[in-house]
Amino acid sequence: MTIAGRTSAESRQPRRPAAIAGSSMKTIIEPFRIKTVEPIRMTTREQRETILQHAGFNLFLVQAEDVLIDLLTDSGTGAMSAEQWAGVMRADESYAGAKSFTRFEERLRSITGFDHILPTHQGRASERILFALLGGKGRVVPNNAHFDTTQANIEHSGAQAINLPIPEASDPTNRHPFKGNVNVEALEALIADVGADRIPCIMITVTNNSGGGQPVSLQNIKDVRRVCDQHGLPLILDACRFAENAYFIKLREEGQQDRPVADIVREMFDLADGATISAKKDGIVNIGGVLLLRNADLLRRASELLILTEGYTTYGGLAGRDLEAMAQGFEEVLHEDYLQYRIRSTGYLGDKLLEAGIQIVEPPGGHAIYVDAKHLCPHIPQAQFPGQAVVCALYRLGGIRACEIGSVMFGGKGHAPPAMELVRLAIPRRVYTQSHIDYVIEVFRDVKQMAPELRPLRIIEQPPALRHFTARFEEL
Ligand code: F0G
Repeated sequence: MTIAGRTSAESRQPRRPAAIAGSSMKTIIEPFRIKTVEPIRMTTREQRETILQHAGFNLFLVQAEDVLIDLLTDSGTGAMSAEQWAGVMRADESYAGAKSFTRFEERLRSITGFDHILPTHQGRASERILFALLGGKGRVVPNNAHFDTTQANIEHSGAQAINLPIPEASDPTNRHPFKGNVNVEALEALIADVGADRIPCIMITVTNNSGGGQPVSLQNIKDVRRVCDQHGLPLILDACRFAENAYFIKLREEGQQDRPVADIVREMFDLADGATISAKKDGIVNIGGVLLLRNADLLRRASELLILTEGYTTYGGLAGRDLEAMAQGFEEVLHEDYLQYRIRSTGYLGDKLLEAGIQIVEPPGGHAIYVDAKHLCPHIPQAQFPGQAVVCALYRLGGIRACEIGSVMFGGKGHAPPAMELVRLAIPRRVYTQSHIDYVIEVFRDVKQMAPELRPLRIIEQPPALRHFTARFEEL
């Protein structure tokens, strides 16, 4: 399956017509062949109508076998390679000091330069441990944009999570190359306002998941590092998508074009005092996480908490086979042909939706395309969930599952409505081919046609936190 239209010239200049690229530019193909397949099943429109009603119009409550193309998340949904599966068989399942842990530790050390590598079962476990130590009432944790679990873990500790994106980030049409950047002036103002003693750390999420999968520049990480140094504050990366972020730096940041992505990755980690990582993203595994810390005292206390709730420090709630899969996945994600295909194939979906008149967060992100639901459904007020209405339409019309990132996810009790109402089409790694993506584009054209008829929603049932997972809705 080729990826027609995805040329390397386009990968540098996402909106340049292919004709300008010249004949030497070839289609960017998937740098793998498919060895194992998993059937997917189409349902009828009537069946999906019933399924949607039963699920309370919440796609998290729909069974996966009732979904044709699942773009709910890129987390834990990637296809593992033959080498990763080989690692699963090779794994050492010893409780302590397993060979698989050593392989995992050495790989993460060589990529990140951190001496001590704590495995966890997934990203939020790293977050929970970190904020059990750094959070607490009265504390404030700034970030370019916290993801939902990070925000929830900070708030669970009693602290406050603050988002400080650059102003360009809230304008979907703005094509700033690094829309994930932290607003450094706003960060300095926040520190002056609340006082550095109330800020336990400054976070940067690479790439910025809640604001469009947009990258953070190396310069911005350096600028935040400088602010951290001025105030003696640690810098923590939420590094779930570190490789995709580094590839964007290579493509877009001045002077970075000739560097291996691995070098850029290393420089990003060198600037940080710690990192939380969900390996379910750029680790290309189905489960796993990492917590990195340089400070010896913090590391000791984090190890104690790890043993208390996750597992011993050489397995952290995982099996040896998971550690093997991570060790291999973190290596494969840095292959530049993989990253070129990854970033360009996501961009292909974004460019085609723009051509169809569907406003997305521009430029296309790394792991997902974010559709601007306010633009698509101007008749639905924010309080009546335009993003969720689009999510329901995608499922009704094409069996596609997407995720609302707007007032359902972030507008719960005590929170102001978010700046954007987005529908995220997250692309699992190495899973779907171009014809799957072309189908998504066709369904989206139908959704656009019937957009004026999409119905607003009302929440009839919701939990106190992370309501998007279990809330139930009714159509108005
Ligand atoms: N940080 C970011 C930026 C994330 O995107 C996620 C997960 C996490 C932390 C938590 O990691 O799921 O392993 O506990 N994001 C997934 C998503 C769920 O769909 O974007 P986790």
